Parts: sequence; C-alpha cells; structure tokens
Amino acid sequence: MRSLEILKDEDKEALEVARISVDETGKESKKKLYIESYGCQMNFSDSEIVTSILQEQGYATTSQYEEADVILLNTCAIRENAEQKVRNRLKNFTPLKKKKPQVVVGVLGCMAERLKTKFLEEEKIVDVVAGPDSYRDLPNLFSEVDEGQKAINVFLSRDETYADITPVRLNSNGVTAFVSIMRGCDNMCSFCVVPFTRGRERSRDVHSILKECQELHDNNFKEVTLLGQNVDSYKWSSEDGAETVNFAQLLERVALISPELRVRFSTSHPKDITDEVLHTMKKYENICNYIHLPAQSGNSRVLKIMNRTYDREWYLNRIDAIRAILGEECGISHDLIAGFCTETEDEHKDTLSLMEYVKYDYGYMFAYSERPGTPAAKKLEDDIPEDVKKRRLNEIIALQQQHSLARNQMSIGKVQKVLVEGFSKRSDDFLQGRNDQNKVVVFPKLNFQKGDYVNVLIKECTAATLIGEAVV
Ligand code: SAH
Ligand code: SF4
Ligand code: F3S
Repeated sequence: MRSLEILKDEDKEALEVARISVDETGKESKKKLYIESYGCQMNFSDSEIVTSILQEQGYATTSQYEEADVILLNTCAIRENAEQKVRNRLKNFTPLKKKKPQVVVGVLGCMAERLKTKFLEEEKIVDVVAGPDSYRDLPNLFSEVDEGQKAINVFLSRDETYADITPVRLNSNGVTAFVSIMRGCDNMCSFCVVPFTRGRERSRDVHSILKECQELHDNNFKEVTLLGQNVDSYKWSSEDGAETVNFAQLLERVALISPELRVRFSTSHPKDITDEVLHTMKKYENICNYIHLPAQSGNSRVLKIMNRTYDREWYLNRIDAIRAILGEECGISHDLIAGFCTETEDEHKDTLSLMEYVKYDYGYMFAYSERPGTPAAKKLEDDIPEDVKKRRLNEIIALQQQHSLARNQMSIGKVQKVLVEGFSKRSDDFLQGRNDQNKVVVFPKLNFQKGDYVNVLIKECTAATLIGEAVV
C-alpha cells in the first residue's frame, strides 16, 4: 500500500460529523465530528467508512477541530515516526480538552490496534481507542464515554469488510475515488506491523464492489483505485461456491462498467502478481498502465530474512513479464527499505543495481524502523547505525530522482491522455491531472475542466511533473 504520510498537512483529510442531541434549553443541536487520517490509502478509505457510520447516527462534519464534539485521529503504526506524528498531534488538542473536557478524543486505526490499552495509559487526553475492525461499534464507545468511562474495542474480525457501508467521499475531488476490495494481510513480512494491526486477510463481496464502482460512475466519477495490502490475492466465492472471482476477473468486471471509468489498483505483491492480471490490463484500455510493485530489497538473502517469499530473480522475472506484456511504457513504482537488519554494503548495492535494471518511474523509500512485536524485532538485531541507514536511503533517493527524470523525459514529444483532477498547485490558469502511467501532467486550462479527458502533448518535464499543451 502506498504510504500517504508524505502528504502535506493542508492535503490531509479533515471532516466533520454531527449527531442530533438536545441542549440545556431543550433545542436540538448537532454534534460535530472532526477526523484526520494518517498512513496509507486504506486508512484514508476507512475514514470515509467511519464518517458514513457516524452520519447515520446523525453527526455532521467540521474542518475546525476547535468546534468539534468528537475529534478522531485515524492512525498509522508502520514506522516509529508515523506514531510520533500522532503523539505530537494529540498534544495540540490538550488546550481545547482543558477548556471543553466533554470533547471526546478518539484514536482509530493501526496505532490504536497496536497499543490497545497502553494508548489510554500513555496519552491521558485519549477517551476512545478503536481498532480497524471495530468502527461499527463507535456509537456505543462514545456512549460509554458519555457515561464517564474510557472506551476501547480492538477486536480483529475474520469477516468484517464494511461491504454494505457506502463511504462518504471526504477528500474527494469528485473525479477519483478509492474502493477497498479486501482487508488485512496474511503475509508475514518480518519487518511489518500490518498483519498485527489489521488482522487476517479477507476479500469483500464482488457484488458490493461492483455496486460501489457503478454508483461512482453514475455520480460522474472517472477513476477508481481498488485497494488492498495484496490485491493479487483477492479471492471471493459465493456461499454455494457457484461463483468464484480472482483479482484478474475482478479487474475485468470493474473495467467493463464503462470505458470512461479508469481503473487503478494498489498494492501488488511480487509473489502473487500473475500474467493473467497483466493480460487483463493489456486487454482493457481503461485499466491504467501502472503497477506499484514493492521490492523492499534487491538482495536475495535480505529478501529471505524479510520473509518476502520471493528472491531477486523472481522479482526481475515479474518485471520482465510486465515489460513483455505491457511494454516499456508501463509505469512501475517501488517501495524500498534501507538498512534492514544485517544488510551489508554489498547487499545495499544490490538494491541500487535492481533499481538500475528496472528504472522505476517512482518510488517510496524508507529507512528501516524496528516495530515492537514483529518477527524481525523478535529474531533479528536492528544493527545498522542510523547514519548508515540514512546514507543508504539518500543514495536510493538520489538514484530514484535520476530515474524519475529519465523516465519522464521519455514522454516528451508524445501525446498522452490525461484525466483532469483540478487546478494546478501553482496557478488557476493551469489544470492538473494524471496520465495512464500515474504521472502528474500540468497544462494550460483553455476551456477544459475537472473530469475531462484531454490529449496533451508533453513538451517538458521535471523529475516529478510533465508539462504540456492540449492538442485540440
Ligand atoms: N502491503 C504493502 C505494504 C504496506 S506498508 C506491500 O506489501 O507492499 C508500505 C511500505 O512501508 C512497505 O512496502 C515497506 O516498504 C514500508 N515498511 C513497512 N514496515 C516498515 C518498517 N518497519 N520500517 C521501514 N519501512 C517499512
Ligand atoms: Fe506488510 Fe508484507 Fe503484508 Fe505488505 S505484504 S502489509 S509489507 S506483511
Ligand atoms: Fe496503513 Fe499504516 Fe496501517 S501504512 S495499514 S495505516 S500501519
């Protein structure tokens, strides 16, 4: 799953929910909810489900936490600094909580699941702790707090997928939307906290996914991103076993909703991505030519102790298959971890040489951060000094910058179909959207608007952005 921790604060989701209650004068007033999300797209998607559940209870939303009755932080535990960010943010709410002690402060998501009651002990401001599978219980948890107790639900489920809940599109630009197709993760990558915070893998009913995508299309959305920690292991069967759907088949069924609806997905796992998926991508023009394929390391020994269950050769074979079936132009991005336990200098160089081989369009790069309770924390020593991790990470980032620029330069002189998502960040005279390969393209507005597909001739680029002009 792509991490959104890098999002700037102003991009982060802030929303409100209000529940009807009766004030001292007997007048009805709405309770308001403010919610912030951290971590991956899955968490952002979950906040939309939480909002939907609370709207059903009559809550309304606010983007000002100062006026909220309930403040929720949907938290991430993937690295130490993700948790630190949440703890710092909680401190910002202390003055408000002193002034208005009745304000309910709740923590949701992966850090809530990881810390459980410890969260209540360590952060006195927190009233509610709710793990990723307990969001239907939030109204009850709030009631417990109203009665003067702290409230917690961190049970993980084997079957909760929130399939029947229509998310409230919070951060929506009205053009692109996330759709969760599964929850949890059954892989046990040794560095990773997600299997502990999100529980067992389960796939959502195909019919509820198709219904949600169809409704998005009916409401003029132009792109859906299907979300899961490992989308390639999506597998759903009807109760009588008559209907069985794998990921390639799901992709096809979503693509068939309309050629006007683009389909993206994240995250693919190198051990599970099949040629069937690649051929399905090729068959449908509206399935975007972009694959996020985390590598984590370019060295087979390190991959083994990471328990990724593939080696360098396997990974490169998948890259070759992508290039053979979808062509050189298919966008590919990675996740890489620098300085995992016992990683030698030569093994780090294997990561750099893997990058040289693939020439990724984009990457998400991290220094290894030991997470308590994970297999690596139990069995391996976090023995790479911080400055070495940092230096290796910087080498990976610098190389990726070069590759991103070189890959972007390949687009110059080409006409690419761009789905407009809104104005460019710098000027309202320019629009911004993404091409098939998920690259940001900026071009003069003319008479185009959000939601349009525009053919753009790419004229120049940076490592991050393509710049062009509409071909009319
Ligand atoms: N399910 C996705 C990953 C979700 S977590 C997958 O398997 O690819 C997103 C990324 O965070 C991971 O791919 C990994 O690169 C990084 N990550 C996870 N745990 C980490 C840790 N302990 N330290 C540093 N980076 C980590
Ligand atoms: Fe974590 Fe591995 Fe699962 Fe991804 S596949 S969420 S890295 S355990
Ligand atoms: Fe996502 Fe962070 Fe949880 S990356 S799955 S919110 S630990």
